[in-house]
Parts: sequence; structure tokens; C-alpha cells
Amino acid sequence: MLKKTYCNYFRHFSPFTMLIEFIYTSTVTRPLDPKEVINLQESCMHNNAQKGVTGMLLYDGQHFMQVLEGDSQTIETLFETIKHDSRHFEVSAIIRNPIENRNFAAWSMGVVDLTKTMDFKNTKIKDIRKSPPLSHKLLLAFTHNKIY
Ligand SMILES: Cc1cc2nc3c(=O)[nH]c(=O)nc-3n(C[C@H](O)[C@H](O)[C@H](O)COP(=O)(O)O)c2cc1C
Repeated sequence: MLKKTYCNYFRHFSPFTMLIEFIYTSTVTRPLDPKEVINLQESCMHNNAQKGVTGMLLYDGQHFMQVLEGDSQTIETLFETIKHDSRHFEVSAIIRNPIENRNFAAWSMGVVDLTKTMDFKNTKIKDIRKSPPLSHKLLLAFTHNKIY
């Protein structure tokens, strides 16, 4: 137990690793029902907490937009897994930035169904994703939101 804690600490906070934010968008293979969205969030939260990954996943019924924060190698490996998930396709990376601090430190993975929000119910990820700065801004809108 002690050994595992030490290894995780080293992996997440070593000066030899680089903290990045990584944003991609994708198209859903088929719309997810609310229970499937909850299941996806639960598995993301569980896995990401173990890997020191934080972030936010937006869903508008047709597309996903996700920001992942963490050690660059961990994020690249996770993205390889996510890319091959059959729940989506047309997976396209739009931002990969080194960062000093996390914007979503409180979220091992927040998930927002935009269609169920007041302010963003008409927001379409397919329109926003054409602009990386706008994509970044949209995700940051959820940093301090009380989503649940
Ligand atoms: C849009 C989308 C986002 C996902 N995000 C994550 C994530 O942040 N972390 C994660 O571990 N898995 C994520 N997954 C799930 C992975 O693709 C994969 O199913 C999961 O890592 C397998 O975990 P398991 O081996 O515990 O079943 C995501 C899947 C989709 C479709």
C-alpha cells in the first residue's frame, strides 16, 4: 500500500513530467440514454482518480467535447484508449497545451449533458469545435459551475 502511494505520488508530481490540457471532440455512434451517460461518468471518475487525471466532458446528444488534464504521457495513453471506444467516432484532437495549474482540479471527470442545461441547451459542439479558442472557452464555462 505504501509502495503504491509512493509510486502514484512520483508519477503525478515528478518534476520530469509535464502537466497538459488536452481537448478533443467526437461524434456519438448513437445517442446515449441518461443511464449510459451516468455509467460513463462513473467509470471515468473511478479510472481518472487513480491516474491523477481531471477534466470535463460535454455531451450535446450528437457530439462529445472533452478536456483531459494530467501528466502528458498519461493523457496520451488515455486518449489512445478513448479514441478506440465504440461509443464514438471522428475523434479529433483540437488542443494540446502545457499548463501550470489545472482548471478542473475538483473534477476527476465532470460530465454535462448540454441539452439539460438552461444556458447551453442550444449550443452545438459541431459549431463550436471549428474554433479551438471558443472550445476552450466553452469548457471553462463549467469550471466553477455547480452542475449537480
Ligand atoms: C466520450 C468518451 C470519454 C471518455 N473519457 C474517459 C476518461 O476520461 N477516462 C477513462 O478512463 N475512460 C474514458 N472513456 C472510456 C474509455 O474509452 C474506456 O472505455 C475505459 O477507459 C475502459 O475502462 P475499464 O477498463 O475500466 O472498463 C471515455 C469514453 C468516451 C466514449
